[in-house]
Amino acid sequence: TPAEVAALASCARHGNKPDELLEIFHDLQHQLGYVPDATLPVIAKALNRSRAEIYGVLTFYHEFKRHPVGKHVVKICRAEACQSMGTDALCQHAEKSLGTSLGGTTADGMVTIEQVFCLGNCALSPAIMVGEKLYGKVDPKRFDEIIGGLEK
Ligand code: FES
Repeated sequence: TPAEVAALASCARHGNKPDELLEIFHDLQHQLGYVPDATLPVIAKALNRSRAEIYGVLTFYHEFKRHPVGKHVVKICRAEACQSMGTDALCQHAEKSLGTSLGGTTADGMVTIEQVFCLGNCALSPAIMVGEKLYGKVDPKRFDEIIGGLEK
């Protein structure tokens, strides 16, 4: 696969040195947007390390993404205060209107929706966060307006 080829090339560029593993992950994330699981056995072999070791390093550093994400990441709060203000219905609406489930990305790669637990905006439940921006009292209608207003 192209991801495996990219992984091999990156390892080679880094002299197949295990101590350059983080650089290799950075390369892949830069090129592919995330580090696909399919690259792990390739990297393990090239660096002569176990797959578990490579996996351990990848998952230790939260900066590395393991799944493709959309241009915009929308976090929907599902903690208590937001629950009581209808976040479940909001999540259902989000999944339906975007055609993907929580943790997933729209087919056009524009939006990823994720669930989070408390955005510190409980007084204005239900709360969502789009990129770095926080929104409160988000009902389905407002949700659609916010999504509709995202930069393409
Ligand atoms: Fe949703 Fe705190 S519970 S912001």
